[in-house]
Amino acid sequence: MNDTPDPEEDNVVQQVPLSWHSGDMPYSEEFGDFYYSKADGRAECRHVFLAANGLPERFAGKQHFVIAELGFGTGLNFIETWAQWEAAAPAGSRLEFHSFELRLLGRDEIQRALAAWPDLSEKSGELTSRWPKQPAGDIQIDFECQDKSLRLHIHSGLALEKLTAANFAADAWFLDGFSPARNPDMWSRDLMQAVADHTVVGGTFATYSAAGWVRRNLQTAGFKVEKRPGHTGKRDMSAGILTGPASKTADIAGSPQTLTV
Ligand SMILES: C[S@@+](CC[C@H](N)C(=O)[O-])C[C@H]1O[C@@H](n2cnc3c(N)ncnc32)[C@H](O)[C@@H]1O
Repeated sequence: MNDTPDPEEDNVVQQVPLSWHSGDMPYSEEFGDFYYSKADGRAECRHVFLAANGLPERFAGKQHFVIAELGFGTGLNFIETWAQWEAAAPAGSRLEFHSFELRLLGRDEIQRALAAWPDLSEKSGELTSRWPKQPAGDIQIDFECQDKSLRLHIHSGLALEKLTAANFAADAWFLDGFSPARNPDMWSRDLMQAVADHTVVGGTFATYSAAGWVRRNLQTAGFKVEKRPGHTGKRDMSAGILTGPASKTADIAGSPQTLTV
């Protein structure tokens, strides 16, 4: 007989198995990886996810911008992006930020992680005050931004299932699962195809990973993929652009011209 309580039956939200290193650095016990660079997660966000997607410069030229992210985690990428977008986008702009997350962190955990960046405290305080204490299910939050509008959409569950059912096309993607070796589902061929299927032509992606099989999955999905210099301590990262409509039947061996960088 199994004496373990059923969390659903008891209406208890399961805790995400986390541990904390050096006080404020979250580490996933489930995936055996840190949520962001131990050196400086915010600098990594700027280098990998923003700069390699041509941001914040691209914000200036587009009134309605859509960003999508695999792995919301602590919300650090979201908060930093919000700050950069607010400073760069013209009055009247709108940003839609879609993020996919299997294990939603609780409010206290997000607060603890983001406290490492005190100059972002206004925005992280806004996020955590609106974030459910023990979140469950999809979340949508509208934020006040003077002369602009920002909507955060959290798609809660397995990224592949949720993205396949989602209805948007992103201008830029942040591919931020845990390391491909430890979290292969977040980099699978099917998921990279779903990413391409939810990207506008000319849309871009960026990721800290330079794993060969991840790059091939992205190429097969229709992205032109480049290696770029990585953030501190990492030689390479990857970024790319969708140059034509996503090809659901693309085959690496069959279309080498479109895949050559
Ligand atoms: C590297 S962390 C993301 C860090 C985050 N972008 C931040 O700013 O803190 C990777 C995230 O992917 C989530 N994840 C892992 N596998 C997933 C899956 N199959 N579907 C959706 N989310 C997943 C993890 O729970 C974790 O929060």
